[in-house]
Amino acid sequence: MSTTSTAATLVRTRDALAAALAAQDARGARRAVVMTMGALHEGHLSLVRQARAAADAVVVTIFVNPLQFGPAEDLSRYPRDLERDLALLSGPGLLGPGDVVFAPAPDEVYPDGDPLVRVSAGPLGAVLEGAARPGHLDGVLTVVLKLLHLTRPQVALFGRKDAQQLAAVRRMVRDLDVPVEVVGAPLVRDADGLALSSRNAYLSRQDRARALGLSRALAAATEQARAGAGATQVVAAARETLVQAGVDELGYVALVDPDTFATVGDDHTGPALLLLAARVGATRLIDNAEVRLMPPGARDGGPA
Ligand code: PAJ
Repeated sequence: MSTTSTAATLVRTRDALAAALAAQDARGARRAVVMTMGALHEGHLSLVRQARAAADAVVVTIFVNPLQFGPAEDLSRYPRDLERDLALLSGPGLLGPGDVVFAPAPDEVYPDGDPLVRVSAGPLGAVLEGAARPGHLDGVLTVVLKLLHLTRPQVALFGRKDAQQLAAVRRMVRDLDVPVEVVGAPLVRDADGLALSSRNAYLSRQDRARALGLSRALAAATEQARAGAGATQVVAAARETLVQAGVDELGYVALVDPDTFATVGDDHTGPALLLLAARVGATRLIDNAEVRLMPPGARDGGPA
């Protein structure tokens, strides 16, 4: 990727990154960063396209962050293929000369070993994904803040696929006065509805068929909400669809306020986020969609 003049520059160290950023700064470029753990797919590439449109220079980081994996999680088997990722990033409309890929080794990011001081996601880190994966969101925020400091972007893009992560990053930026604009990007799905995820690579053909229960559950719940159902019914429709799909373990089905992630009740009207987590085979999957709950008056008048 760094060998031809039309490709982005691949850097593996902080020093090489600093030099590449200085070159972007020297031409007065506005910089956007897209942070990833690699094993790139169209969801990641859509973020890079939006970064391209939002700025003059793009930095993509590829780093499987040990800090955000629990002891029983898939850190060692998480898919890693830098050559493939670089090839994908040099596709049309993506990275070009002047852009940078930062793919550091763990001891480049954590030269003193595990950091003693970390960012806490607070209450947002204790519910839903935070409850299922203790310490996960703290590990995410710690690496996101470090990568923001190392890459110094004006804008940073995060996918709505990881809605709670996006909310936690927004909250960190606001609470800690981090000088960056955070942009949330739409969730990208496969043609069959499955939300794209690097972890989909773990799914067998049979697992994949059952994994479609997540997107079907969101569709069923959305339909209920459109027909005037309240929060309890919307959640029940999603739960029933997931159970019928035969997922191996239901993590959570939650309808929350999009800003606070507090659970909403039957008195809630307007937008809410429906969040799902389920295990299929050995793979834990998450998905979400925004649903709009109608006021009770409109419900009574709507279809049964
Ligand atoms: P990763 O799972 O590789 O995702 C990197 C970015 O791509 C995140 O912002 C994520 O929300 C977005 N993304 C993943 N799948 C998507 C999809 N189907 N549609 C839209 N966006 C999608 O999230 C992480 O890495 C890490 O936690 C990270 C932020 C890099 C910190 O380590």
